[in-house]
Amino acid sequence: MLSLATLIASVADAGSPALIPAPQTMVAGTGTFALKPSTSIRANAASEATANSLAERLRQATGFTFKVKSLTGTNVPKGDILLTTANANTNLGAEGYEMTVTGNGVVLRAPEQAGLFYGVQTFLQLLPPEVFSTSPSKLVDWAVPCVRIEDQPRFAWRGLLLDVSRHFLTVDEVKQFIDVMALHKLNVLHFHLTDDQGWRLEIKKYPRLTELGSVRKESPKPGNREQGDGTPYGPFFYTQDQIRGLVAYAQARHITIVPEIEMPGHLLGVLTAYPEYSCTGGPFEMRTRWGIEKDVLCMGNEKSLAFMKDILTEVLELFPSQFIHIGGDEVPRDRWKECPKCQALMKAEGLTREAQLQTWFNHRIETFLADKGRRMIGWDEILEGGLTPGAAVMSWRGTKGGLEAAEAGHDVVMAPNTHVYFNEDQAIDPDEPSDRIGRVIPLERVYAYEPVPPQLGADKRQHILGTEGCLWAETLKSVKEVEYNAYPRAAALAEVAWSPAALRNYDDFSLRLREHEKRLAALNVTFRRESYTRIGGWTPAQITTNGVTLEWDVPRFVTGPGSVIARLDYVKGNASIRTAWVAVLLDGKEVGRDTHAGYASWKEAKSTYAIAVPASTRGTRYTLRAYVTGTGGTDSTGSVQLKYKSTKLAP
Ligand code: ACM
Ligand code: ZN
Repeated sequence: MLSLATLIASVADAGSPALIPAPQTMVAGTGTFALKPSTSIRANAASEATANSLAERLRQATGFTFKVKSLTGTNVPKGDILLTTANANTNLGAEGYEMTVTGNGVVLRAPEQAGLFYGVQTFLQLLPPEVFSTSPSKLVDWAVPCVRIEDQPRFAWRGLLLDVSRHFLTVDEVKQFIDVMALHKLNVLHFHLTDDQGWRLEIKKYPRLTELGSVRKESPKPGNREQGDGTPYGPFFYTQDQIRGLVAYAQARHITIVPEIEMPGHLLGVLTAYPEYSCTGGPFEMRTRWGIEKDVLCMGNEKSLAFMKDILTEVLELFPSQFIHIGGDEVPRDRWKECPKCQALMKAEGLTREAQLQTWFNHRIETFLADKGRRMIGWDEILEGGLTPGAAVMSWRGTKGGLEAAEAGHDVVMAPNTHVYFNEDQAIDPDEPSDRIGRVIPLERVYAYEPVPPQLGADKRQHILGTEGCLWAETLKSVKEVEYNAYPRAAALAEVAWSPAALRNYDDFSLRLREHEKRLAALNVTFRRESYTRIGGWTPAQITTNGVTLEWDVPRFVTGPGSVIARLDYVKGNASIRTAWVAVLLDGKEVGRDTHAGYASWKEAKSTYAIAVPASTRGTRYTLRAYVTGTGGTDSTGSVQLKYKSTKLAP
């Protein structure tokens, strides 16, 4: 048994493979295995499809036509790659694998194809990043370091949400997104198909849903979201055949598509097409602004339930996933309060609060799904009227709902908007203009996220199924923007969800990320490259509620004249940080200061400072100094990021 310190050292070793997510255990050997045009891939019968997927990637990147041969007998010829389920260690579970790379060959074993597929992803990351190239690379030395890996995921649910309602993505774009998820061993694509701004799924029984629901007259104007942009959007939707194709494509990559059909709110697609299921009778049209729609499904109309069940019947035929997401977030009760039918239902059922109407409805939907062998999952608002017994919860309004649900014995997926809402910006940066006015969720905060709330009882921890990053698409208008917001934060999330918590180390991850960026680039993924350098941080022990002066060494690449941009990022804790000023010192003497009130918390990041620095001479040293105060306590951990712009000298 290797000690944890050895493992961390072996992962952090700059010479060791830069795997993301980090495997459970990895022991580096000496030497390399050379992939050659003559290398064969051998697979037992069960593993041929997985072997073909490896061969296909290798062919694309190397131009060599690797053969997949069936394994006859037990002896693997020298120099080959073996993929097999035979004699696999069943303790590795359905997603685990073990891999040994020696100079003589590669042996990859897993009890199930999912594990074998993840072993292939790891094997690809052991190769040079050019292996992800979409056209043959000129590289000739396809060497793989000798290594022994045993690996399995920490969590079963490792998800990302795509919001194709607000901005649609084509089938090909979703496929590319799925490919990149697979590289990160992410396994749930939460497909937000319906909302007030667009209904994107063909339903044969109710064609008006897409006829009317997949178009909106306009969208909010960038920069002034109270106004419309005057440009019709749509019709955009997926046919049922396209969905079947996507589901199969994802399945081949061991990704489950969990459809989300929002009810009883966020469903203007239904009301626009079929206003008889509203409380007021309409008419309605698809929302052209972001935000929450007051018109929701009428609970008192006895046909509402049957209508939603009809829709779900078609959804279940298309999506084999165990979980079906029914939304349930942000359901205003205004219409139910005024609707005679809804009020009559409350009376008949003995309900005292409108919120209980949602529970009443959910319970029926849940039973309907359970009868068909499926499970219901919804946003944490479904807790409000009392949770139905088998429901699973997706905790988005922080972690409180998730904690409460898990304590009560419900399964939970953690998707807190404080840590994993990737629609938020990654940094406040004058060089990165953004239409978004929300919060900032830096990479380091995602990486520091712990999905199991520390307060949760040990006997309840198994209820935390995992975690999911959300890419709400109100302002993400194209797949490029979606990718840019997803990566590298989704790579950090992948490590949070897959790797042992004890292995997590941000400095080490940052090192591996530099190599990983080359893989993303080879795959033509659009991603954010951090242009700041982390120069240090702060911990609760340094923070006081009276204010304190903190200092950090400035790296040597700062040689004035020019300007320093400093960013104070919240990473974790309950306290917020107020900053009064940030200054630069040259050999202990202040040479520049930016004084303005800054603030950093999970909600807000207004903490960027620009300081002009004069010329330095050889041997002099800059220091960054800030005056910060803990607000709401001292429990704050943060990170200080710095960027430098040299003043261009006149020619
Ligand atoms: C949500 O962000 N309304 C789930
Ligand atoms: Zn009603």
